[in-house]
Amino acid sequence: MSQKLRRGFLVLIGIFAVAQVFQPDRQPPSPSASSIWDEPTLPTEVSAILSRACSDCHSNRTEWPWYSRISPISWLVAHDVDEGRGHFNFSQWSDYEPYRRYKILEEICEEVEEGEMPLAIYLPLHPEAKLDAEDLRTLCTWTRTWMDELRPQIGDSPDRSEDHDHDD
Ligand code: HEC
Repeated sequence: MSQKLRRGFLVLIGIFAVAQVFQPDRQPPSPSASSIWDEPTLPTEVSAILSRACSDCHSNRTEWPWYSRISPISWLVAHDVDEGRGHFNFSQWSDYEPYRRYKILEEICEEVEEGEMPLAIYLPLHPEAKLDAEDLRTLCTWTRTWMDELRPQIGDSPDRSEDHDHDD
């Protein structure tokens, strides 16, 4: 019995060790563009919120904690980062057309208000990323102001079918 257990354990350790060979690519996408943090109009409070709560998954400024280098956790973490950057990447902000920016800003406010972002799985190990009511207000005031500025540049027909009217 204990022989069997020990053999099972060794097999597990072996699998775990071999898994370490398979590491995801953690290189950021080529950083030719300029980031949202280079925008002169970005308010300091907003900049701080994006840095502490979003930048790990939505920019090239990802900080990889030690456990994110251990397979299979590394695969899960890299997957979230890939997917997050795939939706939008704050480090490539200058690549985005006004319409794209508009939609991203719109979704940012929606996602944080619904509590969908930052991803729940991220929070236990990143308590600093939790957003309080004040943070939400700061973010959504910022996205709405910027969206108002963008509206003239994208013509008068941004697709607002999913948008609820502003109440402030
Ligand atoms: C742990 C990684 C992680 C963090 C941190 C994170 N996101 Fe995301 N984000 C993702 C992933 C993965 C997706 C795509 C999957 C999904 O929609 O659930 C995503 C999608 C989004 C989308 C697009 C949703 C859509 O339906 O198109 C928005 C907007 C967004 N995130 C905003 C934010 C904001 C704002 C923050 C910071 C307050 C943030 N995220 C923090 C991983 C993250």
